[in-house]
Amino acid sequence: MTTVTAAEAAYVVAALLFILSLAGLSQHRTSRSGVVWGIAGMVIALAATVGLASRSITATGLVLIAVATAVGAGIGLWRARVVEMTGMPELIAIMHSLVGLAATFVGWNGYLDVDAELSGSLLGIHHAEVFIGVFIGAVTFTGSVVAYLKLSARIKSNPLTLPGKHILNVGALVAFVALTVAFVARPNIGLLIAVTVIALALGAHLVASIGGGDMPVVVSMLNSYSGWAAAASGFLLANNLLIVTGALVGSSGAYLSYIMCKAMNRSFISVIAGGFGTPAPAADDGEQGEHREINAEETAELLRDASSVIITPGYGMAVAQAQYPVAELARKLRERGVEVRFGIHPVAGRLPGHMNVLLAEANVPYDVVLEMDEINDDFAATSVVLVIGANDTVNPAATDNPSSPIAGMPVLHVWEAANVVVFKRSMAAGYAGVQNPLFFRENTQMLFGDAKQRVEDILRGLDALDAPVPEMAGTSR
Ligand code: TAP
Repeated sequence: MTTVTAAEAAYVVAALLFILSLAGLSQHRTSRSGVVWGIAGMVIALAATVGLASRSITATGLVLIAVATAVGAGIGLWRARVVEMTGMPELIAIMHSLVGLAATFVGWNGYLDVDAELSGSLLGIHHAEVFIGVFIGAVTFTGSVVAYLKLSARIKSNPLTLPGKHILNVGALVAFVALTVAFVARPNIGLLIAVTVIALALGAHLVASIGGGDMPVVVSMLNSYSGWAAAASGFLLANNLLIVTGALVGSSGAYLSYIMCKAMNRSFISVIAGGFGTPAPAADDGEQGEHREINAEETAELLRDASSVIITPGYGMAVAQAQYPVAELARKLRERGVEVRFGIHPVAGRLPGHMNVLLAEANVPYDVVLEMDEINDDFAATSVVLVIGANDTVNPAATDNPSSPIAGMPVLHVWEAANVVVFKRSMAAGYAGVQNPLFFRENTQMLFGDAKQRVEDILRGLDALDAPVPEMAGTSR
């Protein structure tokens, strides 16, 4: 068997492992094996690529590849070990930016170092691949950098509304098509520089135009773009595995974005076109009346008397790392015969499945963790809802106020319960930057402070309620 055939066979095995990995990652129970399949596929892919490259690369080249791989792998391992769960979305965004940057470089290299054997229509196809690869790569690069800056709160998450912003986006796409035709006919560096600059500006503008509430879809869309950028590099490098892997990432990312748009009642086209067709957001509406406060002991009493409780966690539970005491609280209440369930919004937290991962980490049984659609009709018959660090995902303005920036987004109908206790540290707005009328409703009480500390206080409060009342002196006689 030649090196090339062995490498191609290894690529097929790696591609199958990547497909198994995606299948595994689609469910909690199989997600660990999904990760293992993915790692195995990547090890095989790397070994085959280095084996293939060793035929045509000098010893110095191989050493350089080894050093670059070690440095890259070292940085990747370090970041993955130290990243907080709440920092995952921005880490993912910045990783996508590297894929985009790599695709842009591969495209540029494809222009500067053309295979001498290419001629005629093959050369034309090569130049089209160069141009498209650079365009997708550069859009992915700056789009991901802006997403990183927004997700890590280094810039505001409000949508940028330049005058004529949709005309700018459409103009950039028309210019890309015209420049591609011109480049295929007469390739020159000026056109390549022009498309790189246009794509860099378009990527930044598209993501800057998206409001905070729609960022989850944007992150998964950038994931998809990074896949297509990798596939474009695969065509340029004549690497079948890169084409297959890129297409897998591209199509699964696009499908995930589509599912998220449906779950959030957003138009897929509008989100990928930088908020096209969405009304300008109304100004933040500030405080909306008086709010009422409750303390941990009173909350413990409320829970002691409850027959059914629904816990709706959000980003604040992740920040506070409150999942362990929350799991303990759920266990204690269930032991007392209270029906306790969790209601999970599809975009609660900062990444898909964020809350499910945290609750699984704290050993909350899967059967009491329900999706929004499964639990939304049950709030009306519930005694107490504990909103633990959630805000946008329980905001009634999404259903009641058509001018709200999150109008139309499905939310958990927590306000229908008899009592709602909201755990947060202040009256600050959530990720989308809009005030939440839930906090001012008559059946809502605010429990201020760090969510972990407050839940621990409630656990102590429940223990105190259980403790036998010391007998008064003289009553035993
Ligand atoms: P958010 O709307 O982000 O609100 C989180 C709340 O937690 C805040 O009101 C904050 O209030 C509170 N909080 C923060 N730290 C806390 C702590 N230590 N203890 C107690 N409370 C704390 O939460 P959500 O309901 O989960 O909504 C998620 C939002 O993020 C949506 O707008 C969604 O579109 C967006 N988003 C989601 C994703 C994905 S895929 N899930 C990705 C990117 C963006 P205080 O500061 O007053 O404490």
